[in-house]
Amino acid sequence: MNIQINGRMVPLDDSLRDTPLLYILRNDLALNGPKYGCGLGECGACTVLIDGVTARSCSVNAASVVGKSVTTLEGIGNAEHLHPVQQGFIDEQAAQCGYCTNGMIMTLVALFEREPQADEQTIKQELAFNLCRCGTHIEILRAAERAKQ
Ligand code: FES
Repeated sequence: MNIQINGRMVPLDDSLRDTPLLYILRNDLALNGPKYGCGLGECGACTVLIDGVTARSCSVNAASVVGKSVTTLEGIGNAEHLHPVQQGFIDEQAAQCGYCTNGMIMTLVALFEREPQADEQTIKQELAFNLCRCGTHIEILRAAERAKQ
């Protein structure tokens, strides 16, 4: 079984077919951007893009992404060339504990691909299912606005 992750074809043992994608990303491929939060598809900490659409990687098994393109936080930018959403989070110091940050960023990346000038109401609706328990919501919204510029 081969799956495409961040533009690279990754061979995986067939025994991993039913394994949650999140476990493979973190445990087998050392892609630790996606976080394990609830494990139930509810918190958004594990968000990745599958063919450009947000998905909860804790609730998707490996076999279901064969033939599709998976993008993780590590695939949207790097230390030399951060994605504008990543840069916005840094500039606005939009993380406290940082556990939700992956999901917030990946959700905004997908939104701005579809709708580069999404208004605040749309941004709030899009982020509504990414849980943050620290309270950096204002900074996260500022980071989103900054990323649009
Ligand atoms: Fe996947 Fe919470 S860990 S949605």
